Amino acid sequence: MYLLENWYVAALSVELDTKPLSRQILGEHVALFRSESGRVVAFADQCPHRGYPLSLGSVVGEELVCGYHGFTFDCGGVCVAIPGQDRIPGRANVRSYPVVEQGIWVWIWMGHGEADYGALPATPWLVANDEWSTVSGVAKISASFDLLVDNLLDLSHETYLHGGSIGTPEVATTPIEVEVDDETNAVRVFRHMNAVECPPFYSRTTGLQGKVDRWQDIDYSPPGFYLLHARIAPVAQPPLPDGRDDHAFHMKIFYGLTPSTETSVYDFWALARDFCLGEDEIDRFLEKMQRGVVQEDVDALNILQSRADDRREVSEVSVKIDRGGLAARRVLASMREAATRR
Ligand code: FES
Ligand SMILES: [Fe+2]
Repeated sequence: MYLLENWYVAALSVELDTKPLSRQILGEHVALFRSESGRVVAFADQCPHRGYPLSLGSVVGEELVCGYHGFTFDCGGVCVAIPGQDRIPGRANVRSYPVVEQGIWVWIWMGHGEADYGALPATPWLVANDEWSTVSGVAKISASFDLLVDNLLDLSHETYLHGGSIGTPEVATTPIEVEVDDETNAVRVFRHMNAVECPPFYSRTTGLQGKVDRWQDIDYSPPGFYLLHARIAPVAQPPLPDGRDDHAFHMKIFYGLTPSTETSVYDFWALARDFCLGEDEIDRFLEKMQRGVVQEDVDALNILQSRADDRREVSEVSVKIDRGGLAARRVLASMREAATRR
């Protein structure tokens, strides 16, 4: 079941222009585009007239013209013209979803109630600024949203699935701390690895060699937003008591988890770093590495889903490393239960 009354990442900002993009989000077909003035718009991808996908229409100025018989809609979804007649039935309007373009991501509110703008995740790192450089991408996975949550909340898999890039032995063996914020539903998982091997992902970009302190602090805001605070620093140099941490390298690793159907999910990813700012070569390296990492997850989740589809029951044995994933499952279950009561 989908948690409708929430914000989800719908697209990378760079994906949208005046040629509409069709994307299935929470089971609904959505047409995303920019008007000629650059405004981002999301419509139900179904013309009220005969159901033709509006994503196959054309943007003309601030309007979208259906590609079948020419019904024309303004950016709010109001039908403003029908060829051959002046009268426009009220039911000719199309559903327009609230959208917010925030830096490199475009967010969509899929709920039927008022959009809760206060609940939009804050992503200042992903908005153009002088302190962080970003790279980003998106992958579609043929697996359920829940399998992706499990994957992201238990990073011990890095050691085995991502051995050549970000996985080192200590990721799997270092104990984690898990916290759930009952107010906000945030699930936090802390893994502080001290005096450990620096994986290629970080040694190549930070220049640190040999042992480092490597911290991974996950902050998951269910259902759709995940932020991993990664800190790489020379050994035994923690942040100062006032919070300053200038001797460390920081990377924020973002995932927008957007269910497409019950068995497919969009994995929007982004990396923001506070070092090697604006260096193209580092951008290209990180983008290539992260694409590879994401593809390894995609391949693993695709096969897990296909095996799950073969079985009637999935049996599992949970162990210590699963505490973050289990906490997220509990939070999601209670959000789903609350949603069914509404
Ligand atoms: S289906 Fe869109 S105008 Fe006819
Ligand atoms: Fe992974």
